[in-house]
Amino acid sequence: MAEVRLKDLTKKFKDVAAVDNVSLNVRDGEFLTLVGPSGCGKSTTLRAVAGLENPTSGNIFIDGERVNDLPPQKRHISMVFQSYALFPHMTVESNLAFGLKIKKKGPEEKAKRVKWAVELLGLSGFEKRLPKELSGGQRQRVALGRALVLEPKVLLLDEPLSNLDAKLRLRMRTELKRLHKKIKTTIIYVTHDQAEAMTLSDRMAVMKDGRILQVGTPGQIYEKPADVFCAGFIGSPPMNFLPGEKVPQVKDKNVVVGIRPEDLSISLSRIDAGIWGRSSVTETLGSDSYLHVDTSEGLVSVRLKSDQGILEDKPLWLVSHKEKLHLFDKSTGRRIT
Ligand SMILES: Nc1ncnc2c1ncn2[C@@H]1O[C@H](COP(=O)(O)OP(=O)(O)O)[C@@H](O)[C@H]1O
Ligand SMILES: [Mg+2]
Repeated sequence: MAEVRLKDLTKKFKDVAAVDNVSLNVRDGEFLTLVGPSGCGKSTTLRAVAGLENPTSGNIFIDGERVNDLPPQKRHISMVFQSYALFPHMTVESNLAFGLKIKKKGPEEKAKRVKWAVELLGLSGFEKRLPKELSGGQRQRVALGRALVLEPKVLLLDEPLSNLDAKLRLRMRTELKRLHKKIKTTIIYVTHDQAEAMTLSDRMAVMKDGRILQVGTPGQIYEKPADVFCAGFIGSPPMNFLPGEKVPQVKDKNVVVGIRPEDLSISLSRIDAGIWGRSSVTETLGSDSYLHVDTSEGLVSVRLKSDQGILEDKPLWLVSHKEKLHLFDKSTGRRIT
């Protein structure tokens, strides 16, 4: 196990900073996720930790040791990519053992670790199969196993679930979380999927344009997003944003007000502190449903209580408790207080 520290890490490609002055402490045994939209610099950050990219400036420390000049194989790190190519002509067992062979481990040690991985990942009975004889989830587990048998201090995972179908992705999420509980290896995980980040992580770092905007537990970021971007990126359906002057409890044109769909309620009679709108469509997502309300500021989504059937095209008022409002500075986008 190990801690990883990034200090003022910058990686430029020509004059574009893919990673822009990033500082981050990943704690020993922690599951930390870098989350942000495509192109924000997640993979480049991870590849720099792995030693696959040379930082333009800044430093990377693993367990206090500066590793900038260490080649990847000396960093005690394993990485699993989205396209986790297994060797197609090799059995599960040989795929798992491959890295150990390169590391010149003896046959006994090799067999022991392969057995450990097979049991850990629920691959018993599949040892002699070829990758093409496995399901997508099993293949992904072999890819994970291949990384884990090397007993890395740090495991780096770059969108490892994105090639799986939606259902399997959810199952592998749970499996990954359980796996981390068992092995407690420090994990740095990369995804553009905020729901995946929320469910898996001990802490997450929200990235945009090469920078980290906020680091915190999923709960902290959801409840107190540091700026408009984090507020809108984390949570689904996303937070609603309204100009401050249109929200009766705020009445301030220098403020952007954020309200989560679950913090709004609906009144069919006039409420002074409410925002007027007209019901548009209802969206049902299984146990939850969301009503989209047409207001002068565009569509606002509201989470409906289970017994609340609202007809379409009805005038109504949207209300929220003042303490549930998120206030952001209109010019900087930063959270106020
Ligand atoms: N080898 C490269 N050469 C030039 N530009 C690159 C290279 N790798 C990444 N980039 C650019 O750096 C930015 C960040 O990329 P990346 O780290 O892959 O983002 P993410 O993983 O968050 O989608 C993007 O604008 C991407 O086009
Ligand atoms: Mg990427």
